[in-house]
Amino acid sequence: MNPDPNPQTSDPDSIPPGRIDIHSHILPSIDDGCATVEESLQSVRTLIEHGFVGTICTPHCWPNNFPHITPAHIKAWRDALAQEIEKAGLPYQLWTGGELRIYPDAVQWMQANGVPTLADSPYVLCDFWEPRWQDWIDETLDWLLDNGYTPILAHPERSPTHDNFEAHLDRIMDKGVLLQGNLRCFTGEEGHYPDQAIRQYMTEGRYTLLALDMHRPAVLQGRLDGIAIASEEFGEERINAMLDSEVRRLLFS
Ligand SMILES: [Fe+2]
Repeated sequence: MNPDPNPQTSDPDSIPPGRIDIHSHILPSIDDGCATVEESLQSVRTLIEHGFVGTICTPHCWPNNFPHITPAHIKAWRDALAQEIEKAGLPYQLWTGGELRIYPDAVQWMQANGVPTLADSPYVLCDFWEPRWQDWIDETLDWLLDNGYTPILAHPERSPTHDNFEAHLDRIMDKGVLLQGNLRCFTGEEGHYPDQAIRQYMTEGRYTLLALDMHRPAVLQGRLDGIAIASEEFGEERINAMLDSEVRRLLFS
């Protein structure tokens, strides 16, 4: 059997200097992200031009819309795209992950399918879309924390939950949940509320990490523009750390 030509590695010494995107729908034909291998490769080329050296593949783990997406399948899809990247001669690394949808049966789903951790670390990217806070959001986060995982809540600035939302954020952050902001929200493309909320949460120091949450190459540039806008407003050093050294400290050390 041929060895994998572009294996997943968490060895920090084997990852070249540069940015790492921890939230990405780059795997082709899996969810609402890249539609083809060529779109994935085109995205990789653009990411390299913007200083990225790798991406954690985080397709939606939500059986209501994407029943075929499980950690086992994500590993196989990651390996297949990594081989295409290798064949194309692109210096770029991929890791497995997932964007776990928090929904009433999320714990049962993980018990049946496994936990979609980021790059084999104990960190788990999560999202939810609820107009009001629900008990099962806490129950899912608590289950992860009790089992040794650290949830990273994706893009809270985009949440439609507006009933005392910041108090809920305070509570889950006190438990150990981390927050990840979406760079696109700095550009105004997401609308007024996320645009205002991401700046508020940056000022309050709520985010540990930022990410592109890229989907398709046609709309990648707007997300990359967010890096320059955020750097201008909050300092290049701080933004770079949230895309580079903080990612390495959490996931690859
Ligand atoms: Fe996402």
